[in-house]
Amino acid sequence: MHRQIVRVSFNSVAAGVLQNGRLPAGTTFPTGSIVFKEIKPNATVAATLYAVMVKEIGNSLAGDGWLWAEYGPTGSVAYSVNSRGGACTSCHRREQDPRNDLVRSFERQQ
Ligand code: HEC
Repeated sequence: MHRQIVRVSFNSVAAGVLQNGRLPAGTTFPTGSIVFKEIKPNATVAATLYAVMVKEIGNSLAGDGWLWAEYGPTGSVAYSVNSRGGACTSCHRREQDPRNDLVRSFERQQ
């Protein structure tokens, strides 16, 4: 699921806390942050899956402070936000640096 071509985008709230494309030490993403990942089998085709994390610390559906969901290209639900990230958080907690607030793409930066 995460081994194909991916493109990760940050909304303005999330991007606003980044410095030089990184989350500064001691910083977490604020509520309202959206991190969006497009997944495609190869470079020449359209995305087949969209994964999203939305920071909403007080939301009862949040897992570790984020809402987690995945959608198909037509908007079909591939992973429901109602599942509270049960299939997502254990792996996202495995980020190399806990300062990244469960966002794993930073591990791919050089
Ligand atoms: C087996 C580990 C694993 C699982 C399970 C997993 N992820 Fe990820 N996820 C990653 C890794 C690693 C990245 C970094 C980008 C990449 O390599 O694709 C990532 C990236 C993301 C991103 C882009 C933001 C970021 O953290 O970099 C989103 C959004 C995302 N995943 C959502 C989900 C959702 C929703 C689920 C559950 C349905 C999920 N992930 C389950 C490993 C996982």
